[in-house]
Amino acid sequence: MPLLFVLLFMSFSHAVGRDTITPAQPLTSNETLISSNEKFALGFFKPVNSNKSYVGLWYNKISKRTIVWVANRKDPVTTSTGTLSISDNGSLLITDQNSTVVWSSGVANVTNPVAQLLNTGNLVVREDEGDDGNYSWQGFDYPTDTLIAGMKVGVDFVKGLNRTMTAWTSDSDPSPSQYYAMMDIHGDPQLLLCAGSKKLGRTGPWNGYQFTGLPTSATRTYTGFDVSFINNKQEITYSFNTNLPILSKMTVNQSGLVQRSIWEESSGFWNEIWHAPVDQCDSIQACGPFTICNPNNLPICDCLQGFTPKSPEKWYYTDASDGCVRKTQLDCKDGTDGFLVIPYTKLADTTKANVDTSLSLEECRTKCLNNCTCTAYAPSTDVDNGKSGCITWTDELRDVKLFTNDAHVQDFYVRIAAADLDSAPSAFSKSRKWVIPFVIIFVVTMLILAFVGYIVWKRRKTRRARAIQESKNSFHDPGSRGLAARNALELSQGSDLELPLLDLGTIASATENFSADNKLGEGGFGPVYKGMLEDGKEIAVKRLAKTSSQGLVEFKNEVLLIAKLQHRNLVRLLACCIEAEERILVYEYMPNKSLDFFLFAKSKDEVLNWQTRFKIIMGIARGLLYLHQDSRLRVIHRDLKASNILLDKEMNPKISDFGMARIFGGDEAEGNTKKVVGTYGYMSPEYAMDGIFSQKSDAFSFGVLVLEIISGKKNKGVYSAAPHKNLLDHVWSLFKEGNNLQIVDESLGSSYDVNEVMRCINVGLLCVQDHPGDRPLMSSVLLMLGSDRAILPYPKEPGFSVRNVSYQMESGSSKASSSAACDTSATLIEPR
Ligand SMILES: *[C@@H]1O[C@H](CO)[C@@H](O)[C@H](O)[C@H]1NC(C)=O
Ligand SMILES: *[C@@H]1O[C@H](CO)[C@@H](O)[C@H](O)[C@H]1NC(C)=O
Ligand SMILES: *[C@@H]1O[C@H](CO)[C@@H](O)[C@H](O)[C@H]1NC(C)=O
Ligand SMILES: *[C@@H]1O[C@H](CO)[C@@H](O)[C@H](O)[C@H]1NC(C)=O
Ligand SMILES: *[C@@H]1O[C@H](CO)[C@@H](O)[C@H](O)[C@H]1NC(C)=O
Ligand SMILES: *[C@@H]1O[C@H](CO)[C@@H](O)[C@H](O)[C@H]1NC(C)=O
Ligand SMILES: *[C@@H]1O[C@H](CO)[C@@H](O)[C@H](O)[C@H]1NC(C)=O
Ligand SMILES: *[C@@H]1O[C@H](CO)[C@@H](O)[C@H](O)[C@H]1NC(C)=O
Ligand SMILES: *[C@@H]1O[C@H](CO)[C@@H](O)[C@H](O)[C@H]1NC(C)=O
Repeated sequence: MPLLFVLLFMSFSHAVGRDTITPAQPLTSNETLISSNEKFALGFFKPVNSNKSYVGLWYNKISKRTIVWVANRKDPVTTSTGTLSISDNGSLLITDQNSTVVWSSGVANVTNPVAQLLNTGNLVVREDEGDDGNYSWQGFDYPTDTLIAGMKVGVDFVKGLNRTMTAWTSDSDPSPSQYYAMMDIHGDPQLLLCAGSKKLGRTGPWNGYQFTGLPTSATRTYTGFDVSFINNKQEITYSFNTNLPILSKMTVNQSGLVQRSIWEESSGFWNEIWHAPVDQCDSIQACGPFTICNPNNLPICDCLQGFTPKSPEKWYYTDASDGCVRKTQLDCKDGTDGFLVIPYTKLADTTKANVDTSLSLEECRTKCLNNCTCTAYAPSTDVDNGKSGCITWTDELRDVKLFTNDAHVQDFYVRIAAADLDSAPSAFSKSRKWVIPFVIIFVVTMLILAFVGYIVWKRRKTRRARAIQESKNSFHDPGSRGLAARNALELSQGSDLELPLLDLGTIASATENFSADNKLGEGGFGPVYKGMLEDGKEIAVKRLAKTSSQGLVEFKNEVLLIAKLQHRNLVRLLACCIEAEERILVYEYMPNKSLDFFLFAKSKDEVLNWQTRFKIIMGIARGLLYLHQDSRLRVIHRDLKASNILLDKEMNPKISDFGMARIFGGDEAEGNTKKVVGTYGYMSPEYAMDGIFSQKSDAFSFGVLVLEIISGKKNKGVYSAAPHKNLLDHVWSLFKEGNNLQIVDESLGSSYDVNEVMRCINVGLLCVQDHPGDRPLMSSVLLMLGSDRAILPYPKEPGFSVRNVSYQMESGSSKASSSAACDTSATLIEPR
């Protein structure tokens, strides 16, 4: 068998021929030159369906003739035979049967010329005396449509060469078509794919590791495959070399695509391993200026943050060609503009960009900020290699594409007005460090004012209390009734309470005297009963446990708070009752109980389909937004969890249980408490560790809730250290691998909107970021969830994932490892 193979093989591997042409020994059309390693062959060939012949180069030993280089692609031999010869003046000549010269390489500065086919496939003209590596002419300087190992594409300033790759017109015609790839030497050099004078696509600049616009191993160095991108005064070129026993080529094909392929002798095919353009976003024309293209979105174009469509009407009809314009003009004078960082992007077209490799990223930022015309900056080299450099743009930003996670893709910093930065949480921390001192001064001032105010208020109160005391002294009546009355008084004084008071008798009869049959469950500070008023209205009755002194405070808190809040996604408080020692809250009745009841049930029925889940997520987000921003008070819920989401008849979610909620003054951003209350698994790291709560700690709980709703799994909380990953870890690792959809609750099968699920997962992860500043506000959450055009930032590793627990602890006292994660429980219950 091996012998047979060898015999067969030899039958089509031509007899070992010469590799050299001398003036005395030209090459006729029935001969071929064979490189001395027998890898390449060069000779006359006729393309399929053509009677014209050309001098071409092909691989000698593969079973499919593959022309990788053509000498006279525009000047064929039209007679039946032809000759390739070298003249005394060093010029390679192709002559036809009539001895007419159809093609010549031009005169070379050699005295005793020979032409040789080298082992690389390069046909060179050199001195007869020997190969000194200096060739006065070489075929590799004139690539056709294919780049093979050792060939370069790009510009050689010394030799005055401009090497491009141009596609064949058709299989039967190697003459140049309109499609070609060339090196754009302007700005930060990049390869361009063009059709005629039109730019089709670009690779983006080289960052020392890869083309920033083509994050693919097909164009960068890996073991056995070396890529070189040379950018200096002599040349700007791209080439590759390989010592692997494979045949590899890169071609601009006739449809105008760049293809990398390797030869597979077993199948007899060139196996394409990669091609570009990959998707719609790779087309330079995909979207207009100041847009970002996300191939996973529909429509693919979106305005960069801080920009708005230039022609909203065209934009509406998904014609994004006019691109976007700034919402707020830059304020160059004061340098208050900031930068929005877009991670994982194909950098905007660098044709008109400025490059300075000596600058650090910080200097780059300063350089950009100090020049009014500068619109963006980015590192010019692969930051992972510890270098930076600086690219600045002064013009429109075009052809920005969003990639998913790739460590070697640069961050892109777009300059926008301060006013437009606010809704960009990720950029905030980086670009507005100067804000912090102001905030501190502001807070200190407010504290002083508050203190002064408190003293004044205290004085007045004591004075008034004394007055009231004096007037009441005559009918002072100690006892429980009096206490309740005073509580009621306090309640109605402290707030303009518009809450009906029900008497105990009514409630008792509505709940059949608080019968066990009517009991719905046990809340944080007492049982909850179902009841029916005389008019048939169903109610839920929360009865504060008499023993709970803690509960009294929370009871008041809740009454005060929720009476003032009205939103379709918050549970409605209908009335309250303060009588004897009873403290009772009366709510609207929620027939579908709470979310956890459905979500974590063993056998889920069809009620919780994706549509419903999405509706619940949106509803919770709206409710929270109302609490955080839109209500008269600014409220932090602090105990958002599945069991606190009640569901009405139509499965609309209603946030309940405001016992732990806090009202915020209009200017406070975060609060601090000694007593950390809440539910493990939903608590944000900074709240659990340091008792700091804010809208962002609610956002964290919301994120956990979203991921639970999608996965149908409960987040076990912090303690489930490795190997039992918690839900956040689980989701994060799947997300990183791009296996987002594996997160989805199995009971959903495949009946869900992929786009919505992907967005929800992304938003969920953004909400559970470790750093509060990285979490979005609820307003952004709603925007991101509600628009399938929104571009979602790529999340980082979530807070409280197993690795982060150890990190968190390092900031404390011990150098605990993740295996000691359980110790955090102590920190959790009694924070520092
Ligand atoms: C090639 O063809 C020429 C005539 O065109 C003939 O003289 C020569 O012998 C042929 N060579 C071979 C190797 O067949
Ligand atoms: C090639 O030449 C032959 C004979 O000269 C002719 O019959 C045939 O049509 C030609 N083919 C093409 C594609 O021109
Ligand atoms: C080089 O030599 C060839 C063949 O002898 C001739 O046709 C051509 O004109 C010469 N070129 C120059 C520039 O002398
Ligand atoms: C070659 O010469 C012959 C006769 O001289 C002529 O008929 C033919 O057209 C010529 N061919 C070319 C391609 O010039
Ligand atoms: C040709 O080469 C010789 C030495 O090899 C050099 O001195 C001469 O300048 C060259 N001429 C041209 C036109 O490049
Ligand atoms: C090749 O050419 C360069 C400059 O043209 C010269 O410096 C070098 O010595 C040459 N190499 C050889 C081996 O002659
Ligand atoms: C190289 O050639 C291409 C295609 O003709 C052209 O667009 C480009 O400007 C050239 N580059 C240089 C540096 O001359
Ligand atoms: C060019 O390459 C693309 C991508 O592989 C392929 O779809 C297309 O058919 C190719 N065109 C031709 C003419 O081979
Ligand atoms: C700002 O940038 C432009 C374009 O790069 C440049 O021409 C100009 O000199 C710069 N101005 C300053 C003050 O550096």
